[in-house]
Amino acid sequence: MKRVAIFISGRGSNLEAILEKRKQGYLECEIPFILSNRIDARGLQIAAQYKIPTEVLEQKEFSSRTEFEEAILTLLKKNNVDIIVLAGFMLVISKTFIESFAGHIINIHPALLPSFPGLSSQKRALDYGVKFTGCTVHFVSAEVDGGPIILQDIVPIFDDDTEESLTLRILAKEHILLPEALKIVIEERFNIVGRKVNLHP
Ligand code: GAR
Repeated sequence: MKRVAIFISGRGSNLEAILEKRKQGYLECEIPFILSNRIDARGLQIAAQYKIPTEVLEQKEFSSRTEFEEAILTLLKKNNVDIIVLAGFMLVISKTFIESFAGHIINIHPALLPSFPGLSSQKRALDYGVKFTGCTVHFVSAEVDGGPIILQDIVPIFDDDTEESLTLRILAKEHILLPEALKIVIEERFNIVGRKVNLHP
């Protein structure tokens, strides 16, 4: 069975969606640990509710990003992790780290990439005046929010939307999309040609 580590930084609602789907039997995988880069992440309580071990590594405890990432890599290797899910992990990871797990890291992003990569994507979509935005699950590459796209879903933007209302509507879609994409990756139901992820039934 594939071993999946989930990285979080905060609220952990996407983490909860994954753990719930796993509990329901939709996702078959082992989760050796949840990693948070913040001790105060609410997602750590969610992990505890589902009785999944947690690890907290804060970058400020290390003298360099390299040392911080080496500590994460040691944890991953010790636990024989196959797949990493970035579920609201708000740190940019280095090219070296990504290369050591190439093709095995996925990320959820609250916009229809390649539109609105980076931070505050919901606000920027609203301010730009686009009529539709959405969410994307993609493989992580060295380019921030730029790796091959596994799944996307659209969310309309209404005239009376606020950043908060739009964020919540996107989040509801994220909670469906991320477990679905993770299932595809766990079951290896894809192949990648260039930038394109072909999905298999
Ligand atoms: C989610 O909206 C996720 O798409 C976003 O952070 C939020 C985490 O929420 N991630 C990014 O913006 C990554 N660039 P959660 O902690 O409740 O899952």
